[in-house]
Amino acid sequence: MKKTKKIILTGDRPTGKLHLGHFVGSLRRRVELQNSGEYDKIFVMIADAQALTDNAENPAKIRDHILEVAIDYLSVGIDPKKTNIFIQSSIPALTELNMYYLNLVTLSRLQRNPTIKNEIKMREFENSIPAGFLTYPVSQAADITAFLATTVPAGEDQKPMVEQTEEIVAKFNSIYGDVLVTPKILLPTNENCMRLVGTDGKAKMSKSLGNCIYLSDDSETLKKKVMSMYTDPNHIQVSDPGDTKNNPVFLYLSCFADESHFAKYLPEYKNLDEMKAHYERGGLGDVKCKRFLINVLEELLAPIREKRAYYESHLDEVFDILKNGTKAANRQANATLKQVRAAMKINYFEDTSFLSDAKDHFKAVKQ
Ligand code: TRP
Repeated sequence: MKKTKKIILTGDRPTGKLHLGHFVGSLRRRVELQNSGEYDKIFVMIADAQALTDNAENPAKIRDHILEVAIDYLSVGIDPKKTNIFIQSSIPALTELNMYYLNLVTLSRLQRNPTIKNEIKMREFENSIPAGFLTYPVSQAADITAFLATTVPAGEDQKPMVEQTEEIVAKFNSIYGDVLVTPKILLPTNENCMRLVGTDGKAKMSKSLGNCIYLSDDSETLKKKVMSMYTDPNHIQVSDPGDTKNNPVFLYLSCFADESHFAKYLPEYKNLDEMKAHYERGGLGDVKCKRFLINVLEELLAPIREKRAYYESHLDEVFDILKNGTKAANRQANATLKQVRAAMKINYFEDTSFLSDAKDHFKAVKQ
């Protein structure tokens, strides 16, 4: 019954446009994995139901970002011929799986989930945490297991979710039999990309902190954002030695620049190590570094922008891609739900032994 195929499931909440943090944390990897041909199936989910767990009063925001995120996906190279892009709330099987899995976790385990803890603090929920929010890791386990996913490419903040999924899978399989597949998270290999810092140097690029470079930013916006980026505040004169470790310009370069960029835009250095060494000993100015970063990012974003412009003027096409992806996703999730219900023996109307067992039972009672 258990599938040993290689299957990917991952997704994003449609609460805003996707930015460079999403790109290096997960999107870039998804496209590579998609094009590697190594996976039997790939599902990328627009997690609108999860987004509603802390936006119940603001459904318009979520609705407005469905196509926005879909276009972000398509623009970075997620190919609907190879990847099913779908909408979470249109997969009813997920809510049913969530219902059964909720019985397999404790409240205290949910309260210990580090990502949840952190999000509760950030959102200042204090004592009014929506129950759906606290339990969204369980719904995420439903997302992952419904597709029998073996692989979840995601950023570091998703690690606790995948761990919680592993626990639910283990518990389910030990009670009901070997039905669910244990997933593995696939984190970015470059440490700086796990959680890309904001343009202000703050720990995380995040819409609420207003420190993002969006995949949809135009050239002018990109230039402005990079030019006003935080660097080393003690690097005042060009000749001063500078710090590259807590310096977003260098952290970004480590995620985006390769030797070909140096050859093309900054040939005086062969690679980032040489450039860093110069900055650290003094003599390399911030403006020069920022200009280089703009070139590097422009090379990345220009083709993404072009594709975006195409999809923005072909919204019917985007809509159909979502519709078809969601149809395929429903097929898979329903098949898994069917196995789950059978394993739990709650599929009374499909299970021919249900009525005959009952008949035997009542006959036995009478005798
Ligand atoms: N939690 C993810 C986010 O915040 C979205 C998400 C929902 C997800 N379900 C998932 C990611 C399953 C990976 C796998 O963006």
